[in-house]
Amino acid sequence: MSEWLKKYRENHADFDKGSLNAIGMDPFAAFSTWFDEAVNHGETEANAFVLSTATSEEGVSSRIVYLKELKDQRFVFYTNYLSQKGQQIAAHAKVSMLFFWPGLQRQLRIEGIAEKIAEQESDAYFASRPRESQLGAWASRQSEILEGPGDLIAAFEKYDQQFPNAVPRPPHWGGYAIQATSIEFWQGRPSRLHDRIVFVKENGAWKQIRKNP
Ligand SMILES: Cc1cc2nc3c(=O)[nH]c(=O)nc-3n(C[C@H](O)[C@H](O)[C@H](O)COP(=O)(O)O)c2cc1C
Repeated sequence: MSEWLKKYRENHADFDKGSLNAIGMDPFAAFSTWFDEAVNHGETEANAFVLSTATSEEGVSSRIVYLKELKDQRFVFYTNYLSQKGQQIAAHAKVSMLFFWPGLQRQLRIEGIAEKIAEQESDAYFASRPRESQLGAWASRQSEILEGPGDLIAAFEKYDQQFPNAVPRPPHWGGYAIQATSIEFWQGRPSRLHDRIVFVKENGAWKQIRKNP
């Protein structure tokens, strides 16, 4: 066994926090239950998820973003539309989301289609943010090369002066809503016999299947 394996093998958890027997037939109700349980359990950054985006030319890339809302059965997050993720979504709307709530030994995988939300909705959310975050959204040309950190501060100060009162939403900043095509609930179980229940949308209706762990 390698030194690395010897050092880290003891860190694996015993999986014994529950089962999926009471998950029900509505994936969004189940998501809400799990999300509340993650928050109540004190999971760090329970609303942070890994968003993976892809284009056939560039391959796949992943990063963390915050889930801000589950609205009309769509998962909403906010970002810069001109960022790498924004450009990838523009080219290829299929994305995946991944939540990991280790305290509850749960993983939640969602695949779906991302699209921009209505401008008024982005306006309303942007207006609710602190002024510093609003100015940051103007100052950061997210994912582009930054010559030096001073340039970012200079841009922030420029917009601070340009908008002495209310800060309008930058046109390149707003929300995406992800319409799920599959939602998988994974619960760790003893002996690595983990529970996996996958909701798959077929002809407009959700079907539930179990998968081998
Ligand atoms: C905990 C956490 C939360 C984040 N939330 C967001 C977010 O909600 N929106 C966002 O655009 N970036 C967020 N980021 C930054 C992204 O991970 C990423 O660095 C940035 O969006 C640029 O990604 P891109 O170049 O792939 O487009 C967050 C990072 C962390 C670690």
